[in-house]
Amino acid sequence: MTPDALGAPDATVIPVTGDGAYDIVIGRGVLDRVGDSLGAGVNKVLIVHPPTLALLAAELRETLLGRFEVLLAEIPDAEAGKRVEVAAFCWQVMGQADFTRTDAVIGFGGGAVTDLAGFVAATWLRGVTLVQVPTTLLGMVDAAVGGKTGINTNEGKNLVGAFYAPRAVIADLDLVASLPRNEILAGFAEVVKCGFIAEPEILDIIERDVDVATDPLSDEFRRLIELSVGVKARVVSSDFKEAGLREILNYGHTLGHAIEHAERYQWRHGAAVAVGMVYAAELGRLTGSLPDAVVDRHRSILNALTLPISYPAGRWQTLLATMQRDKKARAGMLRFIVLDDLARPSVLQGPETALLYAAYQEIAS
Ligand code: GLY
Repeated sequence: MTPDALGAPDATVIPVTGDGAYDIVIGRGVLDRVGDSLGAGVNKVLIVHPPTLALLAAELRETLLGRFEVLLAEIPDAEAGKRVEVAAFCWQVMGQADFTRTDAVIGFGGGAVTDLAGFVAATWLRGVTLVQVPTTLLGMVDAAVGGKTGINTNEGKNLVGAFYAPRAVIADLDLVASLPRNEILAGFAEVVKCGFIAEPEILDIIERDVDVATDPLSDEFRRLIELSVGVKARVVSSDFKEAGLREILNYGHTLGHAIEHAERYQWRHGAAVAVGMVYAAELGRLTGSLPDAVVDRHRSILNALTLPISYPAGRWQTLLATMQRDKKARAGMLRFIVLDDLARPSVLQGPETALLYAAYQEIAS
């Protein structure tokens, strides 16, 4: 993590190394960095954005005009935007504008929008320049970083996609300041995850003063984003295609995904991951490695963030069936990321159903 010597004075640059290295720029008022981040040789730019960001996308377009020919593609927000028909709409816009291999796509929105934009960039002419400009906390600390792109099919989420590194990620904290508070709090689940799997300073900052930590205008909030992005950048730098280490980012997600499915995607991702982390912590405790105090810390921190830490008792069979289907999709055994201790993640592979149920009883309400 380094202060940015070039350009915006108030920016931190976190590098992602390895194949397709790029920088993540974090700061306030850093949207004017987008043009420079596109690189030389780009003529046309497609900004993919949701309806709620139409005005800001038009403003972003203004900053790029004169240097680039800029088109806008407005797409449905959230999961409704991650459909092949929406990708086809973007391909059509690009085709009609004669987009070439040296042109570029900007993903401007939350995690679903940057996933779709990334997929469009990865597939057009087998890959054009991509710059991700996440506008939500979840997008900044997770979705837009790391090069996972994709769309959903009727059979499931993210079944079609590509690992495709962006040329840059520009995270402007001013964009988060206007988000609804419950969206910010839900985004904190991924921040807390980074704290437990790798960066305990995150947990200390939240525990010190949760109101300050979750205030998008505070220095503490910015520090939390930087620390979380730092965790993700380090992990994807060493394991871009999830051959090993990257799997630790799935902490809380195995049960979390099953809860999202059971709730027909009406729960926020962060809320489901919060319950999933408490569950994973209980698994870690029951397998004998994770101290009670660390499990309790999960509950107290998530509680302070008003995130859920339990789930109705009668839903176990449904959740288990969903996790089993997920397992089949991976042609492997059911796997959970658990903690042996704070910041010591490990894989629990093929656990007994009795153990899984025992952990569920600990989180059942
Ligand atoms: N969201 C988990 C990952 O990017 O690997």
